[in-house]
Amino acid sequence: MIKSIDTTDPTIFAIFGGGDLTWRKLVPALYSLYIKANLPEHFAIVVIDRGEISDAKLREHLHTGVDQFGCCGKSKAADWTPFSKHIFSLSGDFTKGQTYRDLGQLCAKLEKEWKMKPHNIFYLATPPSLFGEIPKQLHKAGLAEDKGYARLVIEKPLGYDLASAQDLNNQLTAYFDESQIFRIDHYLGKETVQNILAFRFANPLFEPLWNRHYVEFVAITVAEQVGVEHRGGYYDKSGALRDMVQNHLMQLLCMVAMEPMLSFDADQIRNRKIDVLNAIRPITPVTVHDSVVRGQYRQGFIDGEPVCGYREEEGVDPNSQTETFVAIKLNIDNWRWQGVPFYMRTGKRLPSRTSEIVIQFRAVPHQAFPPEATLDWQASRLILSLQPHEGIVLRFQAKHPGPKMNLNTVEMEFNYRDAFAAPSPDAYETLLWDVMKNDLTLFMRADQVEAAWRILAPVQKMWSLSPPSDFPNYVAGMGGPAEQHWLLAQQGHSWPLPSGTVKEAIRRGE
Ligand code: BG6
Repeated sequence: MIKSIDTTDPTIFAIFGGGDLTWRKLVPALYSLYIKANLPEHFAIVVIDRGEISDAKLREHLHTGVDQFGCCGKSKAADWTPFSKHIFSLSGDFTKGQTYRDLGQLCAKLEKEWKMKPHNIFYLATPPSLFGEIPKQLHKAGLAEDKGYARLVIEKPLGYDLASAQDLNNQLTAYFDESQIFRIDHYLGKETVQNILAFRFANPLFEPLWNRHYVEFVAITVAEQVGVEHRGGYYDKSGALRDMVQNHLMQLLCMVAMEPMLSFDADQIRNRKIDVLNAIRPITPVTVHDSVVRGQYRQGFIDGEPVCGYREEEGVDPNSQTETFVAIKLNIDNWRWQGVPFYMRTGKRLPSRTSEIVIQFRAVPHQAFPPEATLDWQASRLILSLQPHEGIVLRFQAKHPGPKMNLNTVEMEFNYRDAFAAPSPDAYETLLWDVMKNDLTLFMRADQVEAAWRILAPVQKMWSLSPPSDFPNYVAGMGGPAEQHWLLAQQGHSWPLPSGTVKEAIRRGE
């Protein structure tokens, strides 16, 4: 039986890699948990890395990250000083047994001091080439053994394709039980993403409409305004299909399309999601062309400022064929969704940062209003707005005031910011809290990861056989390649424009 932490249980966060993720995300998230009194009394954050760095210097460096990226602005000395005393530096080579023996000794020393056995959370914030090595070394040092107390946290890239993902899963499960492995997809830690389950399964209102009888199509857009930032080297080997579609977008699709779970048990929910992935109609070499569109940005303007093209980005091959935009059409072959296309798109250097899921409802079966009454008629839609504006919009028809029966499209909006006083926590805060609580609900199981790769395998294969001939094919700051519209036009659909939530934000001048 796996033991779940309660707030008094001591915990050691052993973070392998003191780089950007640790500085920008992990330590600020732990600090935020600390100031909200969500960490146990006894805890330690051990940052393991090659370079020799003193505890004091490490704390100083991490302090800058907390001040810059923490949830609540600059930290207060009264909070940071006691928190920082829990941070320790451990220098060592990840491939040498000595590093793990040193870690084991530190854990034993803390256990003695605390007079209680700590939970050990091993977080792999390293390049993926070490994902197999570290678990093996932890096992050799006897640190992986105790299933109740040892946990492994890992995040993408979880493989490069199906075969490498299977290989990675085999390596991980050789030393850790599946129940000890927390595979992070940070989208699942976002409040608005978790709210999809609450919205669907805590309200009886929409569930009767949530199927092929009422839904015309579903469109998921995750648009980014940023380029590849300082990650050109990584991104050029990855591209949008691996970086965003295989994980974040597939998870969003699962949340929208899954069947109701029987309980909030982690495996119940994960089983319902894998059912969706398994029901996705396989894309074949013949259908790749009609189902997927790829793009790469060229130089352009973002908010009036010139930005370079992808091929000019630092770390990117000047002849790169890597895609920075993907649009994909999927069909789910089950009773609920037969005949309802799911369109997904994501890209970098698009005009704005907007993540939305649009459920477009079917037209009424008989249109009784005269044509002139419906000049402004637009399809009814439910829009789950994930970021940057967090809310839900329902778009429907209403009578325009006046003697004539004219119809206008109107929107009803729920906005997180107005409805709840507290700001949403960062996704990593939620996810680290769940790792501590030993709750796997928001983490990906090995079979989910592999199923998502399996769906995309034919696309990867066909793309590798026929490199794009038109890259770069969209201008930075514009809406992405024109071909994305053909995907939907084949079925008489079009990509939804940004929702009222976004329009409202623009009106407010945000
Ligand atoms: C990461 C990708 O997983 O998600 C990045 O590697 C991307 O390329 C990022 O920019 C987007 O996350 P968010 O939370 O800003 O939408």
